[in-house]
Amino acid sequence: MMNWKKFVESEENLMSIYFDEQSRIFYLESKDTTYAFGVNPLGILEHLYFGKRVGRDLAFRTYSEKGGAHSVVLWDEDKKHYDLAVVPQEIHTPYRGDYYEPSIILEFANGNRRSDLIYESHEIFAEKPQLEGLPSLRHGETLAVTLRSKTAKVILYYTVSETCAIIARSMKVVNEGEEDLRIDRAYSFAFSLPNRQWQAMYLAGAAGAEAHVRKTSLDRGVFTIDSKRGISSASMNPFMAIGLPETSENRGPAYGVNIIYSGSHSITAERIPSGLVRVSGGLNAFDFSWKLEQGESFQTPEVVLAYSEDGYSGMSREFHNIYREALIPKRFVHKPRPVIINHWEATRFIYTLDRLRSIVEQVAGRGIDTFVLDDGWFGVREDETSGLGDWFVNEEKLGGPLQSLIDYTHSLGMRFGLWFEPEMINRNSELYRAHPDWAIQTPDDYAEEARRQLVLDLTREDVRDYLVETVNGIIRSHKIDYVKWDCNRDLSEGYSLALPKDRQKELFHRYYLGLYDLFRRIVEANPDVIFEGCSSGGSRFDAGVLYYFPQIWTSDQTDAPARAKIQYGTSFCYPMSAMSCHVTASPNRRAKHLTTLHSRYDIAAMGPLGYELDTTKMTEEELAEIPLQIAAFKEDEEMVFTGDTYRLHSPFGDSNYFAMQSVSADKKKSRVTVMKLQENFNEPEIRVYPQGLDPDTVYEVAELGRTMEGRSWMNFGFRPKVAAGDYETKVFRFIAK
Ligand code: DGJ
Repeated sequence: MMNWKKFVESEENLMSIYFDEQSRIFYLESKDTTYAFGVNPLGILEHLYFGKRVGRDLAFRTYSEKGGAHSVVLWDEDKKHYDLAVVPQEIHTPYRGDYYEPSIILEFANGNRRSDLIYESHEIFAEKPQLEGLPSLRHGETLAVTLRSKTAKVILYYTVSETCAIIARSMKVVNEGEEDLRIDRAYSFAFSLPNRQWQAMYLAGAAGAEAHVRKTSLDRGVFTIDSKRGISSASMNPFMAIGLPETSENRGPAYGVNIIYSGSHSITAERIPSGLVRVSGGLNAFDFSWKLEQGESFQTPEVVLAYSEDGYSGMSREFHNIYREALIPKRFVHKPRPVIINHWEATRFIYTLDRLRSIVEQVAGRGIDTFVLDDGWFGVREDETSGLGDWFVNEEKLGGPLQSLIDYTHSLGMRFGLWFEPEMINRNSELYRAHPDWAIQTPDDYAEEARRQLVLDLTREDVRDYLVETVNGIIRSHKIDYVKWDCNRDLSEGYSLALPKDRQKELFHRYYLGLYDLFRRIVEANPDVIFEGCSSGGSRFDAGVLYYFPQIWTSDQTDAPARAKIQYGTSFCYPMSAMSCHVTASPNRRAKHLTTLHSRYDIAAMGPLGYELDTTKMTEEELAEIPLQIAAFKEDEEMVFTGDTYRLHSPFGDSNYFAMQSVSADKKKSRVTVMKLQENFNEPEIRVYPQGLDPDTVYEVAELGRTMEGRSWMNFGFRPKVAAGDYETKVFRFIAK
C-alpha cells in the first residue's frame, strides 16, 4: 500500500533546550514558542513563562513579593523572602506555605508529608528516554531536571518538538531510601498563567453525546475536569483548552492540555488570590496512593501542552501534528485506511453466516474493502448477558465455520476484521466458571455489573497471558486484517484480589499498566493488523489509546447532525484520521432523524470511513451511490488525514450551522463541509470564510462556479446555499489552478 508523504519540516522550526548558567534559567524553544523556568536562590523551580517565542533574557520574580501575617515566608541568602503560595512553580508541594492545588504529595516512613524538592542537577537527552510501561510521544529532545527531597528523587521531564508548538511533561519519583515511601498524589505538570481573563474550554458529554464543547470563565477557585471512572470517559475527555475572551477559532492565544492516558485523570485550573491561574493535572488523585519500596520508581503519564496564537483551531493543529508525527503508530498514520462494512447496526447479536454474507454481497465490488464482524461470534452470545471471555468461535450459532465467511470475503477482494472485548468477562461464561477470581471484585461483596459484565483484573499476569494467547491465536489462525477492540464499561469495585491490602489504591493505575502491556503484546505480535479502539463509542477516546491504535470509533451516535457536533468537539485535540466514522441507516436508530444518504456520507467522510447498515434494505439507487462516495473519499483522504483542519462554524450554542475545513499540506486543495442543522424559513443566512489557503493561489470551486484568489476566498467568503431541509449538507472543493 502506498505511503503518504511525511510532514514538511522547515529549518526555521528547529528547537532547542538551553540553560543559561548565569541566570540559571531553562529555555525550552519549539516552533515559535518559549517555555521558561529557572532555579531560584532557594533551589525551587520557578515557572517564568509559556507562550509566543521570546528572547533568552527573562528574569525571576514575575509576581510581587507581598506577604502578610498569614503567609509562610522562606528567606534566601540575600534576605529576599518567598511566599510559596504566590510563587509560580513547576511543581507544587504542600506544607511549606503553598496552600493551593499540590502537584505531588509524598509520605516518608516516619509520617512526614513535607517535601522540599530542591534542584540537584539536570541532563539533556538528544534521544527521548521512553516512559516505562506508558504511552508517550515517541521522540524529541528531552530535559530531565532532578530534584531532591530527603530520600526521594523527583525527576521532571520536558520534551520539545522540532515541528510543533508543544511541550510534553512527565514526572518520575525514585525511592532512594531504605524504607517505604508513599505517593498520595503524582501529577505530571504544573505551570501558571498571568492574571488575565482566562476561560477554559473542555469536552464534556456522555456515551452517544461525546465531546460536547463547553466553556467557563476561570474565576477565583478551583475548576477541574476529571474522570474517576477508571476510564478516560465520555463524561470528560482528558483535555482542556485555555484562552482569553477574545480568543476565537483563528486568532488569539490558546493553550491546550492533554493527558496521554486512558484511565482516571484530572486537569485543574485554579485562580489564586494574586490573580495567577495555576494549571496542573495528570493521574486523578481521588483514592490514589502508591507504595514505593526501596529502589523502586514511579512514572506518571505524560501530558502534552500546546500553544498557539492562531486561536483554538491553531492549538488543535499543534496537537494533530504532534500526534500524527510522534504518537500514532507510524506504519498506519500516513497510509490510506480501510473502508469498512460493519453489520452491527443491521443485526445486533442475532445473525448467521448466511445473513452476514448477504450484507457483504450487496456491496461487493463497490469500493468497500473490509468487512468487520462485530459482537456475537464467540462463546454463547445471543445478547449481552453471556459469552465475554470465551474467545472461541460459536459455529453452531453462525451455522458453519468462521473461516468460510472469511474465505468468502476474501473471494470478493475484501479484507476481514473481527470484534473483541478482551478486558471483560460475563458471569455467564466458561471463563468465569473456570476462574471466578479473575474478575475485579471486592471480597465478601457482590461485584456490580455494567452491561451485565465484569472487568478482568489486568494487574494479573496470568489473565494477560490468557488474553494474549487467545486473542493472538484467533487473529493468527484466521489471518485477521483488522481488529475492533471494544470496552463497554467503567471500573467500579476498586479492589483487586491479586493486590495486598496496602496496595489496593494502586488498582486503577495498575489496571492501565496491565492494559498497555496487553495492547503492546497483541499489537507487536500482529504488525500488519490495523486496530481500532472503541468504548461504547468514544468513552475511551484518548491519546493513550492512539499510541497503539491509529483510530477510534468516535461514537455510537451516528445520526449525522449529532455526529457533526461530536466530530467538531473531538477535533479540538485529536486529528481527523483518528475518528472512525460510519454511514448508517435513516431514520437514525436512536435519534429517529431522517437524513439523506449524501448528508450522512458528507459527515462520515471527515474521518476513516465505513458503512454500518443493512445493505439488503438499500435501494439500487442508494447502492449505486456508494462507489461514487468512496471515489470522492479517496480523492480527499490524504488531504483530510495529513493536512490542516479548521473549524469554521460551531454547531454548539446559537449557531444553526456546522462548517469544518481541511487544507492539504501543500495548500493545493481544500474541502469545506457545511451542514444546516435545522431548516428555519427565512432565517438569516451565514457566510463561510475559508482559512489556511495560499493568498496568492487562484482556486476554483466548481460547486460555486467561481474562481478567485485565496485571499478573496478567505476575506470575501461565500454563501453556502445549502439545499432546503433539516440536516442538509454541502461540500465545497477548492482546487488550485
Ligand atoms: C459498543 C460499540 O460502540 C458498538 O459499535 C458495538 O461494537 C457494540 N459495542 C457491540 O457490543
